[in-house]
Amino acid sequence: MSLTAVRLSLINPSASEGASQKARDLIAAGVDVISLATGEPDFDTPDHVIDAAITAMRAGQTRYTGTGGTVELKKAIIEKFGRDNGLAYELPEVLASAGTKNVIYLALMASLDPGDEVIVPAPHWVSYTEMTKMAGGTPVVAKCAQNNSFKLDAQTLEQAITPRTRWLMLNTPCNPSGAVYSREDLAALADVVRRHPQVLVMTDEIYEHIIFDGLKFHSFAEVAPDLKERTLTLNGVSKGYAMTGWRIGFAGGPAELIAAMKKVQSQSLGSICSISQAGAIAALLGPQAYLQERADAFQARRDGVMALLGTVPGLRCHRPEGAFYLFVECSGLIGKRTPKGLVLDRDIEVAEYLLDEARVVVVNGTAYGISPYFRISIATSMERLEAACTRIADAVARLK
Ligand SMILES: Cc1ncc(COP(=O)(O)O)c(C=O)c1O
Repeated sequence: MSLTAVRLSLINPSASEGASQKARDLIAAGVDVISLATGEPDFDTPDHVIDAAITAMRAGQTRYTGTGGTVELKKAIIEKFGRDNGLAYELPEVLASAGTKNVIYLALMASLDPGDEVIVPAPHWVSYTEMTKMAGGTPVVAKCAQNNSFKLDAQTLEQAITPRTRWLMLNTPCNPSGAVYSREDLAALADVVRRHPQVLVMTDEIYEHIIFDGLKFHSFAEVAPDLKERTLTLNGVSKGYAMTGWRIGFAGGPAELIAAMKKVQSQSLGSICSISQAGAIAALLGPQAYLQERADAFQARRDGVMALLGTVPGLRCHRPEGAFYLFVECSGLIGKRTPKGLVLDRDIEVAEYLLDEARVVVVNGTAYGISPYFRISIATSMERLEAACTRIADAVARLK
């Protein structure tokens, strides 16, 4: 007798979480492993955020709150959307949950009927497709060309749309490719969406503040205000503010959808951590200048790692414009033989080889919907990154 639902057999566990856990286990076992699998900044949560949380606890803010967040947090979210994105929302149009991941899940649970399709441009964050299936929908993966910087173009979008399309998922800056959609990119997609009234747009902007080369961030609903009523704008404090463990993400969108998401949350999670909410308010309303400083640090690491990996035969690094990952093309390693005699048929084996031989943890590209690639996180010190690149280069040199 199986203890699990049939539905579960359709779902893959998170590859990045799996790789991170493998690294944690090996490190705990005393193995000298460098993990480049982690999807979280190595910076600390700012002190003023921690102070705000402590003050909240001392002030007795330790009880359940309203399901979608306190009014104070919702006001801070509204302030953030107005200040950073030029988007105006009212209180019934915003909701907070335990991480952006959960916000996405609420949205899909609240809106998908069986067979509804969700267009997921690839390479894509590992969870979009799996959450879609969990919510009864069908992911439609739309592969994006590397020579278009892995961005979805209007033609590919048009071809992916059917009468069953419910959502287009956008992610800018993108995990894993680091692609940042320009105003023109978004305007071209908006032109397509406009022609298909059944299509809603979910835009995951969690890496908004980690953007390089002086590029300007644009939010879909800001570029296409006439589509705001069909857009769910997602963000959170995890990445930019280095608050992954606090678990606060949020959404702005049409009141009807937000109310439906709140209904799902009320019967699943209930209210979110009161103390984290106080911290998130401090993050959103407090000083913002350090965000740029941290983005600059990520940019310096990007340049350093690109220079190092760029000299490794068989690897081709795509230059990310944001987020903190490098998506490395490894077709030059496919078909090569390891010192133990195994042939690297896919990027899954490449990632395994790098773990076994270089003791560096990376995540295979297959998990992100395209191959052969692997993703490395640059959210670790330059010293560790340099050591990891040396190990990778040495391991690659041992392939025949
Ligand atoms: C693209 C993307 N969206 C959402 C999340 C989840 O963020 P949160 O910590 O707010 O749940 C991640 C985390 O890795 C991500 O990469």
